[in-house]
Amino acid sequence: MSYALRSHAVAALHGEITVPGDKSISHRGLILGGLATGVSHVTGLLEGEDVLATAAAMRALGAAVERLADGRWRVTGNGLGALAEPDDVLNFGNSGTAARLLMGAIAGHPITAVMTGDASLRGRPMRRVIDPLAEMGARFTGRDGGRLPLAVTGAAAPLPLTYTLPVASAQVKSAILLAGLNTPGDTTVIEPHATRDHTETMLRAMGADISVVDHDDGSRHITLRGQPELRATDFTVPGDPSSAAFPAVAALITEGSEIVLKNIGTNPLRFGLFETLIEMGGDIRRENARVIGGEPIADLRVRTSALRAIEVPAARAPSMIDEYPILAVAAARAEGRTVMRGLAELRVKESDRLTATARGLRAIGTQVEETADSLAVAGAGNLPGGATIAANLDHRMAMAFLVAGMSTAMPVDIDDARTIDTSFPGFMALMNGLGARLETVDAATAP
Ligand code: S3P
Repeated sequence: MSYALRSHAVAALHGEITVPGDKSISHRGLILGGLATGVSHVTGLLEGEDVLATAAAMRALGAAVERLADGRWRVTGNGLGALAEPDDVLNFGNSGTAARLLMGAIAGHPITAVMTGDASLRGRPMRRVIDPLAEMGARFTGRDGGRLPLAVTGAAAPLPLTYTLPVASAQVKSAILLAGLNTPGDTTVIEPHATRDHTETMLRAMGADISVVDHDDGSRHITLRGQPELRATDFTVPGDPSSAAFPAVAALITEGSEIVLKNIGTNPLRFGLFETLIEMGGDIRRENARVIGGEPIADLRVRTSALRAIEVPAARAPSMIDEYPILAVAAARAEGRTVMRGLAELRVKESDRLTATARGLRAIGTQVEETADSLAVAGAGNLPGGATIAANLDHRMAMAFLVAGMSTAMPVDIDDARTIDTSFPGFMALMNGLGARLETVDAATAP
């Protein structure tokens, strides 16, 4: 059921919070656990709708996936090559990660699955995974442009592949590596720019033979030796830096704030937003830095800061690809003109985030220039707000503009906040616990 949310200006945010578990690592924990032989545990799992869609799909594919306690899950897999054919359509809801990664896992098994999702996911491009997986021997029947719903029939004898990614995408890389797991020989993915490496880290922990070589031209070559003995493994999921981004920017732009975000993943391939905010003058400190399960983690202390505009280089995009809407909100409150480049991929996320961000910022009183792949935001001290922003089934657009409303003169409304639960269940309560003023609103009373 859709519902609208309103965000009022706040005095200051204070407190210490734990944000939900990392979405990328949670999906991978369930999928990899379900492909291994035996019992894996995942602790700190994100219990958001996207990850629950992956849990349901893994069950339909024959793994036992059980919730033992809050965030603590047990996955029992039957071993590589043992995925069962699902007896109904797999519905991935809003989740591109679930759809693309599982397309990869299924592509290496001789089974047929039919996949669909919500209106947002049904509009997203799947050719980027279909093309390499078809080269490995999988067959696809889908709509024009390779969109969902589609049917995939995995290869009985998958072929190893060497593939250069045409777009920087951890989902495409991971889909190919997951197909490569049940493929004899070496599967190699060449990334022109490195993307989040959770799949590689987790596969290594499970005993797979995977090599990663960085070349002088900035490219990264990842080679997986097929048909490893994939050991069941216990995973601890850090707090999601992409979720931490929202309270962090909220604290930076509201007067007199100081918050601590506990146990946040600080993997450099995910940390571009925080690097950028620090360059902009953001007072963000890492405390208690440590490594758990191969992933760097820290507590982040964030205080109100006077932000200055910068030029964000295109090369940084893969490390902060989901964070541009909230960065743009921070930029709207910075001094000067912030320019962000290399953003073409934003057009094929849960919504067209480039246009949606520009439109939303204009609606709350910011000057914005949008090109095919860039955004320039003119910062202003105080913004009027007083607008209703369309979320378009996009959780991050909804959360970004609720944060914007925390420092505008008039409240900011989001027309439909239901997808926030895909990645950040409990967002409203957690933010209000820090001092935010988010409330549900009757659509009839929206401005
Ligand atoms: C993800 C990769 C990114 C990101 C998405 C999660 C992943 O997508 O936007 O939220 O878990 O691999 P792309 O691979 O399309 O860049």
